[in-house]
Amino acid sequence: MNIRHNSAPRRIPTVVTFLEMRAKPAVLAPLPKGKIVILRAEHPPVHFYRYLYDTIGAPYHWVDRKKLADEALAKIIQAPQVELYVLHVDGCPGGMAELDFSKDAVCNLAYFGLTPECIGRGLGFFFLQQTVELAWTRPIQRYTVNTCTLDHRRALPLYQRVGFVPYSREERYIELP
Ligand SMILES: CC(C)(COP(=O)(O)OP(=O)(O)OC[C@H]1O[C@@H](n2cnc3c(N)ncnc32)[C@H](O)[C@@H]1OP(=O)(O)O)[C@@H](O)C(=O)NCCC(=O)NCCS
Repeated sequence: MNIRHNSAPRRIPTVVTFLEMRAKPAVLAPLPKGKIVILRAEHPPVHFYRYLYDTIGAPYHWVDRKKLADEALAKIIQAPQVELYVLHVDGCPGGMAELDFSKDAVCNLAYFGLTPECIGRGLGFFFLQQTVELAWTRPIQRYTVNTCTLDHRRALPLYQRVGFVPYSREERYIELP
């Protein structure tokens, strides 16, 4: 008997919202409980990046970076214009923020999220607001981010809470590997 495996990728429809801020907003977030440290991961090893990306993104269909070979991924995350910040909570990695300064006068928050056990503790607001502070220490005129309907339900309101303003929406498909 011939068994046919359907190897076609699964496509999930989603709506992406694009947001921006064009000046540093006057928003401050309270310091959450616990021992909180944000460290830049300089020249991050691919295995460490994949650990963060998969731990944070697996429940939300983060797949784009999973499709990349190690060499291709290293080229992106170790580029001098890309800065990876890791939130540490009580000594363990609890979140990642990937800031991409490769476009002139723009910072794009390429990836942002918390590990599952850190969600729902006010850490997202604090960490995101810290990225706003950091981005605007640079000579930028725009700080941008996008979020899709598959992300956590608090992502879009949180981005707006720290000062991002939606400017465009697009229907897209996520192609699962
Ligand atoms: C998006 C994300 C960063 C938001 O973080 P969060 O922890 O969910 O949101 P906040 O930091 O605003 O915390 C608010 C929640 O913490 C709760 N909380 C508990 N203790 C708190 C405290 N001391 N201070 C503030 N809020 C607290 C609040 O009640 C609220 O929960 P509720 O809405 O159920 O009432 C996070 O959900 C996440 O990383 N999700 C997975 C990845 C993702 O979707 N990333 C975005 C991709 S674009």
